[in-house]
Parts: sequence; structure tokens; C-alpha cells
Amino acid sequence: MEGQYSEKVMEHFKNPRNVGEIPDASGVGNVGNPVCGDIMRLYIKVDDKEVITDAKFKTFGCGAAIATSSMVTELIKGKTIQEALKVSNHAVAEALGGLPKIKMHCSVLAEQALRGAIDDYMAKKKAQGPNSKG
Ligand code: FES
Repeated sequence: MEGQYSEKVMEHFKNPRNVGEIPDASGVGNVGNPVCGDIMRLYIKVDDKEVITDAKFKTFGCGAAIATSSMVTELIKGKTIQEALKVSNHAVAEALGGLPKIKMHCSVLAEQALRGAIDDYMAKKKAQGPNSKG
């Protein structure tokens, strides 16, 4: 099985970056894949310039799901919300040196978790009104 994965996937699987949660997160995305049952939760912290200053994740899932969540947190840190919206599952898979075809859906989970966190952030911001910061 291991031979299917790039070195980078294995490396992120063994040493995932940014594992954990952000208690006062600006946005949280929760997704699950009903077929395999894997679950991913992604937290983002956004400053008043719409820059993602921190990202963390918790994934209960396969190796590829862990590697893609780890990579997505690395990719979005320092990006603006608008830039982060353009991060696709293909970009994540590419940054990992590719994924086996049957594992591409795991990277979709990472993309959906990111979108979910951004949606949550936008909804919270809207609820706060235009004059509030943070
Ligand atoms: Fe479920 Fe990878 S097998 S996310």
C-alpha cells in the first residue's frame, strides 16, 4: 500500500502539521465522507485584514485524509480569505506530490473542510455587522 504514496504524503501522514484546535477560531469547517466514514474538522483564525493567521485540524480518517488536511493548513496560512478560496483539492494533492486516483476523494474532504471554515467565518462576520472588528 505504502508504495502508492509519494514521500511527501507519507511524511505529512507521519508528522502532520498543525494538529489540534483553535478555541477562539474565526471559522470552523466540519465535513464527513459518508462512504468511508472519515471525519475532518478545520479551524481558521482570521485577522481584521482577512488574512488567515493560523489554521489547525483534527481528522479521524485515512492516511491520505490526514496528509491532505496537514497540507491544506500549511497552504492557507498567511493567505487572504479570497486567496484561500482558490485552493482546490487538486492544488493540495499536487503540493503533496500527487495522490493515487482512488485517494483523490480524500483531498476533496480537505477542500470541503476549508470551504466550510471560510463559510462559517463569513457567516459570523455578517452576523457581527460591518462595524465590528475581529
Ligand atoms: Fe476516507 Fe480517505 S478513505 S477520506
